[in-house]
Amino acid sequence: MSNENRSSFTGKIGFVLAAAGSAVGLGNIWRFPYLAAKYGGGIFLLVYILLAITFGFALMTAEIAIGRKTGLSAIGAYRALNKKYSFIGYIAAIIPAIILPYYSVIGGWVTKYLYAFVSGGAGAAAGDSYFTGFISQTGEPIFWFLAFIGITALVVLCGVEKGIEKVSKVMMPILVVLSVVIAVYSVCMPGALEGVKYYLLPDFSKFSATTVLAAMGQLFYSMSLAMGIMITYGSYMKKDVNLESSVSQIEIFDTGIAFLAGLMIIPAVFVFSGGTPEALGKGPSLMFVTLPKVFETMPAGTVVGVAFFLLVLFAALTSSISLFETVVSIVCDKTKLSRRLSCLVVFVFSVALGLLSSLGYGPLGNVTIIGLQFLDFFDFISNSVLMPIVAFLTCIFVGYVIKPKTVIEEVELNAKFKKKRLFEVIIKYVAPICIVLILVSSVLDAFGIFKI
Ligand code: TRP
Repeated sequence: MSNENRSSFTGKIGFVLAAAGSAVGLGNIWRFPYLAAKYGGGIFLLVYILLAITFGFALMTAEIAIGRKTGLSAIGAYRALNKKYSFIGYIAAIIPAIILPYYSVIGGWVTKYLYAFVSGGAGAAAGDSYFTGFISQTGEPIFWFLAFIGITALVVLCGVEKGIEKVSKVMMPILVVLSVVIAVYSVCMPGALEGVKYYLLPDFSKFSATTVLAAMGQLFYSMSLAMGIMITYGSYMKKDVNLESSVSQIEIFDTGIAFLAGLMIIPAVFVFSGGTPEALGKGPSLMFVTLPKVFETMPAGTVVGVAFFLLVLFAALTSSISLFETVVSIVCDKTKLSRRLSCLVVFVFSVALGLLSSLGYGPLGNVTIIGLQFLDFFDFISNSVLMPIVAFLTCIFVGYVIKPKTVIEEVELNAKFKKKRLFEVIIKYVAPICIVLILVSSVLDAFGIFKI
């Protein structure tokens, strides 16, 4: 793993776009709005943005710097810096393997919606029970899940990432433009104002430890942090690229798209279902239930719907491909199996786990783990438990083992590190303490032991 020749991104723009391409996916368009709706709207948005410019900034800087310094991906990078700590890389490596299967189930739902819109089913999709009717079946959701993960596996097998990157450069800007259009339309619908207020004005009485944990989990998820991905990306970054400003740009890009997605979906929830706690707390189904209703009222809504689901599918595919690729390369490195066999192993494993998530809304509907359905459970374990643990260990590692100066020197190779003090304070003190407090309180909360 360590002796391969690393190719690099061509320059800063190449790096920022590639990292943003990994970051922007279902996390922004599907996951962020439903969490924001559920956890109090404005207060969630505020906490999220505060965390992004503090925690997010510090962790992303640390991960990219570690990658660029060592020229290795997670497991190797931690080992190269300090042998005793290579276990952090191993825990980080498990996370994409848990995310990939359920990510593909959601990807399957997006594919189904695209198909419905293309085949003239836009009106039906706007119906109240369309979504629940669909996911509670056995065969159909599994069919679309297999289609989605099948395409992902094929692309990884054929290694056409280069083409994907080229297409992303065209599709991602279109996604931004389309998101702005739909968001503006959504906000202007009669009755949307209440929703805009809910989304933008923080209500401090809705604040709790769970809000912060959910926002933190979302931050890691959305920015592909705390799972070694950004270390790998950093290892491809050239030494003369400005690391600090690249981090800011990736964060702005990623948070901007998530913000717009919230603006598309949350006001629409108020228009069509009222701002009741049940309507806002819909969880994973929110995007699928609300957006078709928006498209139904929109002029040329079917065309916009087709374009929208196509672009979301695309964003989801680019992310699932890099998730798949990450897991395959770990399996390849660790088992010495061939790439093809590793692909097969990852495929079989993901199908097995994904089937549980898919069936969890249908025939396995009454099976729950700590009160959660399979999909929510996998989401909870990876985003709310494992990622904070990896983030915590990374902070300790950078703050006390290799010391912040290792990262600072790497950032300062070509420019002054403007937020150096902030970085040090966060990584050494603020982040580790907060992560532990929040993790403990929310895990206790999930098991119903203790409520804040
Ligand atoms: N960040 C991606 C999103 O917002 C999801 C994701 C998490 C991801 N980890 C990843 C994508 C690793 C690629 C690689 O949807």
